[in-house]
Amino acid sequence: MTAFVPHLQPHPTPASSDGRPSLRHVAVIMDGNRRWAAEHHMAPRDGYQAGAAKVTEFLSWCDQTGIEIITLMAASADNLLHRDPRILAEAMDIIVTALNELADHGRYRLCPIGRLPRLGPVTEHALHRVRARTTDAPGPTVNIAVAYNGREEITDAVRALLARHLRQGTLSSLTERLSPQDIAEQLYTATQPDPDLVIRTSGEQRLSTLMPWQTVYSELCFIPAYWPDLAHSDFARALTSYHQRHRRFGA
Ligand code: IPE
Ligand code: MG
Repeated sequence: MTAFVPHLQPHPTPASSDGRPSLRHVAVIMDGNRRWAAEHHMAPRDGYQAGAAKVTEFLSWCDQTGIEIITLMAASADNLLHRDPRILAEAMDIIVTALNELADHGRYRLCPIGRLPRLGPVTEHALHRVRARTTDAPGPTVNIAVAYNGREEITDAVRALLARHLRQGTLSSLTERLSPQDIAEQLYTATQPDPDLVIRTSGEQRLSTLMPWQTVYSELCFIPAYWPDLAHSDFARALTSYHQRHRRFGA
């Protein structure tokens, strides 16, 4: 009988030497912008504007703690499908302007992720430029999920693998030896550790397609504040809670 040899990836992030779980990658679902605007008797775009201002603040909090990768869920593919196109266009303008300002700032490596062609050629081009302008930035990497759907990310990864093996004539051997690692290497996050902590604001408690592959062992933190109201103390509490957890990874 052949021995059972599991195809396993290494732990997303091993514990640091003091036994506390280390925190290399934090992902955030920045929810509650429109509700914040409605509560202030403002238009949705004012909520997105306030949300964009919070992004700058949030990134500096992360930077101070030495987090290497920050994923920001800005607009899902389902948002694009189901929301008023006028309000979406305003939101995308605010996102692109905020990213250009961050790129000017020069600290962060900005990586827009998602099916960017869905946003139209002008926005797609602007996002590619933001990426190109910041590839050598010294600070943390910031993934910005726009037109993003986690199942599509996995689907695209499998498609890319199949296409490559079809070209190479190695499709039949792929069916024998396809491993989780092969798929992980085709994702937007191929070279990054998985998110250690996922934070969602506004009190909603779900992941809404954010990185289903990469979050299997992520710790989750749900914060009642709307995204534009997120305070540094909320973030600090989330970090304290995370560092008190015992990550077992099935052990
Ligand atoms: C968040 O703000 C957008 C996300 C992709 C998470 P919303 O625009 O969803 O604001 P609410 O949730 O309707 O208040
Ligand atoms: Mg929402």
